[in-house]
Amino acid sequence: MGSLMDTQIMNIVDQPQSLEISNIPSETVGDVHVDHPRMTARNVNVFYGDKCAIDDVTLDIAEKQVISFIGPSGCGKSTFLRCLNRMNDTIDTCRIEGTIALDGQDIYAPHVDVVPLRARVGMVFQKPNPFPKSIYDNVAYGPRIHGLASRRAELDDIVENSLVRAGLWDEVKDRLGQPGTGLSGGQQQRLCIARAIAVSPEVILMDEPCSALDPIATARIEELIHELSTEFTIVIVTHSMQQAARVSQRTAYFHLGKLVEVGETEQIFTKPQHEMTHNYITGRFG
Ligand SMILES: Nc1ncnc2c1ncn2[C@@H]1O[C@H](COP(=O)(O)OP(=O)(O)OP(=O)(O)O)[C@@H](O)[C@H]1O
Ligand SMILES: [Mg+2]
Repeated sequence: MGSLMDTQIMNIVDQPQSLEISNIPSETVGDVHVDHPRMTARNVNVFYGDKCAIDDVTLDIAEKQVISFIGPSGCGKSTFLRCLNRMNDTIDTCRIEGTIALDGQDIYAPHVDVVPLRARVGMVFQKPNPFPKSIYDNVAYGPRIHGLASRRAELDDIVENSLVRAGLWDEVKDRLGQPGTGLSGGQQQRLCIARAIAVSPEVILMDEPCSALDPIATARIEELIHELSTEFTIVIVTHSMQQAARVSQRTAYFHLGKLVEVGETEQIFTKPQHEMTHNYITGRFG
């Protein structure tokens, strides 16, 4: 896993910014398009009230690939990620312009029901958030509401299969009836991943999924992301350069709501084209 040496990437997190807004390119540097897009975002603007949080972002998300969103705190990574399954709909002041499509269909079209959309584009949050239910019922929840199993045996199969794919089965198979909240943090996050994949999503969105975990649990989740990418399209927001380098094939660098640069992860970390990307990945700003 990961073709970049950790030592090639300086670990910088949330350093103060001193860049001028005028340095931000009006056009994203690098190729925003891919050959086989699963999702497409075109000229997306996002506002919270009058404040613009995402400014004219165009980007393709390739199928069965991991793409990382990186950039300083407040640059709009989570905002843009949440637009991909209409999670921002829950924020009253939030307004979106532009087009976002899944398999060519506009996800903001008036007839679109967000419940099946969020099954097709699942989400894993920063803090593991198992429901206050048993391990089994956490994973069975989505298949039940979406009517994916007609018999108990079918549901059992989906639960087992999802837990196996999330790398958690061996640790929980003898205590499926116990509360999900009784697991360790790393196990809870794998349970949340099992819950997300139980409804066979096409895309999984992950917003800093390891930031609440220790290095061992983090390594386990990174391994899992790598394995899942053969089957799912994954978008991950991370503050760790090393993590982006280890898990993703493509990386997008955001700054102050703009998508500054996007490219192959290796190229972004070894030969960034834009000065701002270079400054961010090497820890120098301005
Ligand atoms: N619910 C909200 N209401 C108003 N403004 C918001 C809301 N959520 C985010 N913002 C603003 O939008 C901008 C982008 O925030 P966002 O959370 O997307 O950044 P981020 O890149 O994910 O940051 P971090 O790395 O700290 O998580 C910020 O200026 C933030 O203050
Ligand atoms: Mg965020």
